[in-house]
Amino acid sequence: KQQILTHLNSTCINCSACPLSKCGRKQVVFGHGNADARLMFIGEGPGRDEDVQGYPFVGRAGQLLTKIIAAMGFERSQVYISNVVKCRPPENRTPLPEESGICKNILLFKEIEIIKPAIICTLGVTATQALLGEGVFMSSVRGKFVEFRNIPVLPTYHPAYLLRNPAAKRTVWEDVKKIMAL
Ligand code: URA
Ligand code: SF4
Repeated sequence: KQQILTHLNSTCINCSACPLSKCGRKQVVFGHGNADARLMFIGEGPGRDEDVQGYPFVGRAGQLLTKIIAAMGFERSQVYISNVVKCRPPENRTPLPEESGICKNILLFKEIEIIKPAIICTLGVTATQALLGEGVFMSSVRGKFVEFRNIPVLPTYHPAYLLRNPAAKRTVWEDVKKIMAL
């Protein structure tokens, strides 16, 4: 699986398939982690730290995600972490539907098909809508198992949201306990 992922990513190092290729990205930030992972996390897109370092979730929100993973009893090296778009949107704006629509088809959906995780945890509305459709509300699916291509998906809050609203950490902990139970 790792070889197939590495090959897939190698075909996109200079990707220019969507407008984010011309918005000042330093590099394409591919998904990272264990190709045999049973648990996959999906965020929105690289921020400043990720754009510089070349790995997903390495900034402040990423450190919080690492803590959540540790609290679940795992290490980052055991799970797989990716994003809907692989290039940093300017000013960290939300990716446009056109951008996420293109990128998820050339990378994210293929990563899911290759890894075949047992469970996917979507972090925030962008990742949740990328898998479930743009009409989906976070308020109706957060903390509930839904399905993407026969894989159980548990949507929860994005760690960046938790940095602004620490009180919601308790909710995320309740959500991820459901992942551990399954
Ligand atoms: N936020 C995301 O959604 N993804 C990252 O990789 C970092 C921060
Ligand atoms: Fe290509 Fe995705 Fe980057 Fe757009 S965001 S240029 S589709 S890798």
